[in-house]
Amino acid sequence: MFPPEIYSERRKKLRSELSSGIVLFLGNTDVAFNYPANTYTFRQDSNFSYFFGLDHPDLAGLIDLDGGKDIIFGNDVDISDIIWMGQQPSIAEQAAKAGVTVTFPLIELAEYIGMGVTKGRRIHFVPTYRAETRVQLAGLLANDHLKIHDQASPELIRAIVKLRMVKDDLEVKEIEKMIDVAYIMHTTAMKMAMPGVVEQKIAGTIEGIALANAGPVSFPVILTVNGQTLHNHHHGNVLSEGRMMVIDAGCENDLHYASDITRTVPVGGKFSQRQREIYEIVLKANMEATKAVKPGVPFKDIHILAATEIAKGLTALGIMKGDPKEAVANGAHTLFFPHGLGHPLGLDVHDLEGMGETFVGYDDEIKRSKEFGLAFLRFGRKLQPGFVMTIEPGIYFIPELIEIWKNENKNPGFINYDKVMTYLDFGGIRIEDDVLVTADGVRVLGRPIPKTVKEIEELMK
Ligand code: GLY
Ligand code: MN
Repeated sequence: MFPPEIYSERRKKLRSELSSGIVLFLGNTDVAFNYPANTYTFRQDSNFSYFFGLDHPDLAGLIDLDGGKDIIFGNDVDISDIIWMGQQPSIAEQAAKAGVTVTFPLIELAEYIGMGVTKGRRIHFVPTYRAETRVQLAGLLANDHLKIHDQASPELIRAIVKLRMVKDDLEVKEIEKMIDVAYIMHTTAMKMAMPGVVEQKIAGTIEGIALANAGPVSFPVILTVNGQTLHNHHHGNVLSEGRMMVIDAGCENDLHYASDITRTVPVGGKFSQRQREIYEIVLKANMEATKAVKPGVPFKDIHILAATEIAKGLTALGIMKGDPKEAVANGAHTLFFPHGLGHPLGLDVHDLEGMGETFVGYDDEIKRSKEFGLAFLRFGRKLQPGFVMTIEPGIYFIPELIEIWKNENKNPGFINYDKVMTYLDFGGIRIEDDVLVTADGVRVLGRPIPKTVKEIEELMK
């Protein structure tokens, strides 16, 4: 955990963003895997982690905006727990680590909230992404679990987004530590990407590296020679010469700060002419987008800039045609780059997304597009110093999508379908880094992981 003052300060800032009522943060519970006593690995809720730090199941944190108290609700262990888990610090001792001096047994939470409801006080909470928490909330607020999200507090969501989006030096350090572990994961995967190896061997090895050096992976490892499927979690293919392998993987530490890095390498370690041509376009899009990152710039504009680089490169190869800017304005590039340029990264890989993407990535000024491609951009608004974002452009040849567009003759002025058809066996390429928006520009975080053609070929030799 960070020192107690960090958590006290975060809660103080949250108080200053809200006027009155009770702010309730339910920590996560254990969740059964295949029978009650066999649970998934425990993962604390990120908001609870941010404001209260403690990393155990069955805790609740409460900030009483009118009474001035911060409270942790939780149960001290009894002898039957001690037999299985060993002695544990008391809730009061744990709470002190988060700068909280008032604690109550968990059973008293219902009474505290119930009294608040009876008195007509506002109970601020955020939408939850877990069934267990939803049912718990519904019970506390005596409401239907299907309707409980209607009562979530937009003021609280906005306040949390405002605070958590801006990372301080301590947080950036934690993220960078996780990128440094991702360095080992990615360079190991690159060296293993040889013909005859099964994807699972590599995916399992790098997941082990995450666990051995940090915490678990920060999202299920994407490692595949079928990179045209954007989030491909199937690891059953045998690597063969001529394919490219996408590795999209990161890890998180005990504080839950995460990394999220993507590299794409040629199986066997040597780029073919065709692979190199497409790779250099994605790399240029990644570098140009990174250079454009600075405070005040809408991330949507940087997405468009990356899309334009992709359209320019594909036009030079004869895969696209016409004016690249016009092609992008017409959405023609989305045949090859259908997803968004990136997303915030922090305590969640898609930071804060548990409370709803639109609250995080859009505002009154910049609204989410409904167009294919742009609609998938998770974050469009203006950047601020302290934001940590991923920059992850890609080019993919998705046979099913190409077939639909070709049959509909979509964007015929910008797509050279005859040429596209010669790339159906290509797969996909994505290159992703994690960057910090600084006072006047950008810093790519962590130990640089090989990404130029030369660096990758050198490493894989
Ligand atoms: N790295 C997976 C994602 O950004 O969705
Ligand atoms: Mn990502």
